[in-house]
Amino acid sequence: MPVTQAREISAATRLENVRYAIRDLACYADEVAKQGHKILPLNIGDPITFDFQTPAHLIEAVYKAMRDGHNGYAPSSGIKEALDAIRGEAARKGIITVRDLFVTTGVSETVDLCLTALLNPGDDLLTPSPDYPLYSAVLAKMGLALNTYDLNEEDGWQPDLDDIKRKITPRTRGIVLINPNNPTGSVSTGALLRGIAELARRHNLVIFADEIYDKLMLDGDACVSMASVAPDVAIVTFGGLSKNYLAPGWRIGWGIVSGDAAAVKPYIDGIQKLLRSRLCANHPEQYAIKAALEGPQDHLTEVRRKLRSRRDLTVQWCNSTPRVSCVSPRGAFYAYPRIDIPEGDDVFVRELILQKHVMVVHGSGFGQKPGTKHFRIVFLPDEPTLSRAYAAIGELLRERYS
Ligand SMILES: Cc1ncc(COP(=O)(O)O)c(C=O)c1O
Repeated sequence: MPVTQAREISAATRLENVRYAIRDLACYADEVAKQGHKILPLNIGDPITFDFQTPAHLIEAVYKAMRDGHNGYAPSSGIKEALDAIRGEAARKGIITVRDLFVTTGVSETVDLCLTALLNPGDDLLTPSPDYPLYSAVLAKMGLALNTYDLNEEDGWQPDLDDIKRKITPRTRGIVLINPNNPTGSVSTGALLRGIAELARRHNLVIFADEIYDKLMLDGDACVSMASVAPDVAIVTFGGLSKNYLAPGWRIGWGIVSGDAAAVKPYIDGIQKLLRSRLCANHPEQYAIKAALEGPQDHLTEVRRKLRSRRDLTVQWCNSTPRVSCVSPRGAFYAYPRIDIPEGDDVFVRELILQKHVMVVHGSGFGQKPGTKHFRIVFLPDEPTLSRAYAAIGELLRERYS
């Protein structure tokens, strides 16, 4: 008599709070695709889906590494050549108290690892609202409750310092700052960064400075790195190849720990333990890090030129369309327009996929102030494609709400 296993295998209950709206919408898109329609994806920040290419010298570096036989495991922190290049990048960013560096499988893994190495059951981490949902997903996976601070739409989506002060509890261990920001495209001012650093000093917090978009500044100014304004504060700066260097599929990210050497030492030991336990990041792709950070940067001029033009088109459309308004993004490739509609933004986004075959992500998937409604646009496509998408969104707004 064969033994069968008939009882249901339930998933861990803490996964109930793991959500990733950017990809969770795929089921609606599948439905539309089954009917033979092509979806226009303005939901995922992948430049390679549109008219951007990974710089050739990066591809050459990875290809050469593979041909040269770098196909085994790498050291857990990363290969020396990459770590040296990241150290150089930290210096260019003005980070002068570097205490540790490591390469990971995308910034996604840096985040997972750095949060896991810091937080105990019952601790909390301040995350922005709206948020890039990776942070809340990792916290949910660890069984930790969310403690969010507001980004203030009336203030160009800058972090609300007073709200941060109000939200700090005896169990708060750190704060996440995404700059340039996903999903709003805002860029934080030096004064704001100094304000957050002061709170971190006072409450002994670690700052997670997610600067994965730091070279995609759209108005000609440079991104001020959090760690450059607060060399004494415990900060982990995140960077990677996915956005600035147009290679998201390679899954290469890194973390730079800075601050007071003695204060951050136990935390670094914890991070290193986790780095060892997952063996290493992708090996041949690490050879692109030096090529990226020290080689030609010409692609960035072209990328920023395209993004500036597409940002301008997006903002123009938002501000000339009834029921839509938008803070102009200053970095990255996202806009987060507000919509004035009588139903949930998730309903609007679902109908947009089903009726107009355009996919954006609803604001409720990122978090927003009660009563407000938004959606996130990825403005990576070329101008004709964006214009078609905006015409379709405008049409749905008229058909549904006028
Ligand atoms: C703010 C932010 N952090 C991290 C990531 C993840 O990056 P990676 O591809 O390096 O895992 C993204 C991806 O969209 C992002 O927007």
